[in-house]
Amino acid sequence: KRVAILISGGGSNMMALVRAMEGDFPARPALVLSNDETAGGLQKAAALGIATAVVDHRPYGKDRAAFEAAIQQQLQSAEIDIVCLAGFMRILTDGFTRQWEGRMLNIHPSLLPEFKGLHTHERAIAAGVPTHGCTVHLVTAALDDGPILGQARVDVAADDTPETLAQKVLVQEHRLYPAVLRRFAEGDMRPVFLA
Ligand code: GRF
Repeated sequence: KRVAILISGGGSNMMALVRAMEGDFPARPALVLSNDETAGGLQKAAALGIATAVVDHRPYGKDRAAFEAAIQQQLQSAEIDIVCLAGFMRILTDGFTRQWEGRMLNIHPSLLPEFKGLHTHERAIAAGVPTHGCTVHLVTAALDDGPILGQARVDVAADDTPETLAQKVLVQEHRLYPAVLRRFAEGDMRPVFLA
């Protein structure tokens, strides 16, 4: 299976996926694409010999469909089978999510359906939840709402800050996403729940 990983920043999840795919794995990284030419993940991927692309969203203004058509062009020419959103910070339209329905994954830093949207760690601390974590899900038109493919949990300590909690969750993201992608690429839809 040919995988495209979409990023907007440092790409630590992208790197975890790429490292996992270096060995005996039912998928290979065929493209790393960012909406931001300054995304640190682009250099990391290029250093590993992975094809990269930039589709800057700014020239498209409010025309999301045109922005996504440019992304689709890249995915098509790279003959992509599976799209992994990994720290990709643009909202995708219904049209694009429908086009990739069942073949596009996202990782979200909360235990969905809790804390959809942004600032999940601050909100988890404010809510006083004892447990937090991350979720990999299939992407659907509704934000952070598709079928869950995996989750990993962390305990929230009394002295946790959004930064310390984000770091604990990120460690689990890097374990969870490769485990989910492996199963998904093999056609095994059983969810992965990491302790
Ligand atoms: C992190 O906040 C992570 O929780 C979320 O996207 C952000 C950047 O991740 N998935 P990455 O380091 O670019 O993969």
